[in-house]
Amino acid sequence: MVKFEKNFIFGLATSSYQIEGAATEDGRSPSIWDTFCKTPGKVYEGHTGDVACDHYHRYKEDVKILKEIGVNTYRFSISWSRIFPEYGKYNPKGMEFYKKLIDELIRNDIEPTVTLFHWDLPMWAYNMGGWLNRDSVKWFQEYAVKVFEELNDSVKFWTTHNEPFCASILGYNLGVHAPGHKNIREALIAAHHILLSHGAAVEAFREFGFKDSKIGIILNLSPFYPVSDSKEDIEASYRCDGLSNRWFLDPVFKASYPEDLKKIFIKMAGEFDFIKDGDLQKISIKNDFLGVNYYSRNLVKFFQDSKLNCQSVKGNLKKTAMGWEIYPEGLYDIIVRLRKEYTQLPIYITENGAAFDDVLFEGKQIKDAERIDYIKSHLMKIADLNRQGADIKGYYLWSLMDNFEWTYGYSKRFGIVYVDFKTQERILKDSALWYKDVIKNRTIK
Ligand code: FCB
Repeated sequence: MVKFEKNFIFGLATSSYQIEGAATEDGRSPSIWDTFCKTPGKVYEGHTGDVACDHYHRYKEDVKILKEIGVNTYRFSISWSRIFPEYGKYNPKGMEFYKKLIDELIRNDIEPTVTLFHWDLPMWAYNMGGWLNRDSVKWFQEYAVKVFEELNDSVKFWTTHNEPFCASILGYNLGVHAPGHKNIREALIAAHHILLSHGAAVEAFREFGFKDSKIGIILNLSPFYPVSDSKEDIEASYRCDGLSNRWFLDPVFKASYPEDLKKIFIKMAGEFDFIKDGDLQKISIKNDFLGVNYYSRNLVKFFQDSKLNCQSVKGNLKKTAMGWEIYPEGLYDIIVRLRKEYTQLPIYITENGAAFDDVLFEGKQIKDAERIDYIKSHLMKIADLNRQGADIKGYYLWSLMDNFEWTYGYSKRFGIVYVDFKTQERILKDSALWYKDVIKNRTIK
């Protein structure tokens, strides 16, 4: 039996574009994800977030479900283009939705955790150069300040960016996420401006003079392991780790980019003239906590014909429906490394969860034992880590409900609540009932 301390918080997480729908309502303007979804061939079967879980209209019902499960906190993100449908034009109607949602959460004793950016960059910002334009730092700061002003009374827990790696590398280098560019120089510039905008938002947050509120950034961290003990594989693995993990951890915690990778990137992406004096100081501004999203590990080998001479290898562990290996030890390794090499700040696991091919049993039950096993094994690792003094303060399970899983559309179900996308009916899966029990007893049996 594993016990969680009284002040350990249990939560659930979602993001705006993945659940809200109401894409054109109350003045919202499109984001890069609206455009990406409508570009043929980009998203599974042309799915879009136009309706998604219709959470914009059903938020009360969804808060009821959160209450029923008994979470202490709920993490959601704000759609920038609802609040600012045009540059500099504030839309109170868009903000009203978040105010109502937050009121409803607080009425039900659920602490809101707000993420300012979960990838849905407004199209107006994209049309002005997006994250490639250094002014994006200023636009993001202005947006953040407005949100702080409007919500500071009720929100105590803030995160700036969700997974800058995905917004920059997947979006600007690999082209698999919006805006779908394939250019390594652009990706590095986007990453830099995103990180800088994090620093600018935290700076504004400090100036704002919040009292008991906290702010941090969320990084997706995943360990890389070489398939063999050969020097070539070990070095390849370190390079891959460099792009996914160190490229974001080092600037945030050490005010520098990893030199080994910089040398490689300068050859393929040109000079780093987009880094200006003082930028790294700003990026490494002190946070109150670090958010870690963890799903799986990476197994890699040396491979001559790839940019970093490093290639993924399929491992033989059990996999989720995403094809991701189930490896809770990877979470353990990441946290131990963070504590050793990077930070003593409180850590929250801001996302962890699994997609499986759920089957609706007799129209009313989802027996998702595999998902329960997944969550359980990761929570056990967290308990283990905390016993060793890791100071992990909370866990947000991804996700409250099945939703729009980016390029996979609605084909991958991560929720602990099943959503019938035709009728919008919600059904608590067995994992939701299991999680409810864990939260209630603060114990895993
Ligand atoms: C993370 C994203 C989240 C969701 C999960 C499965 O990378 O932050 O929106 O898609 O993966």
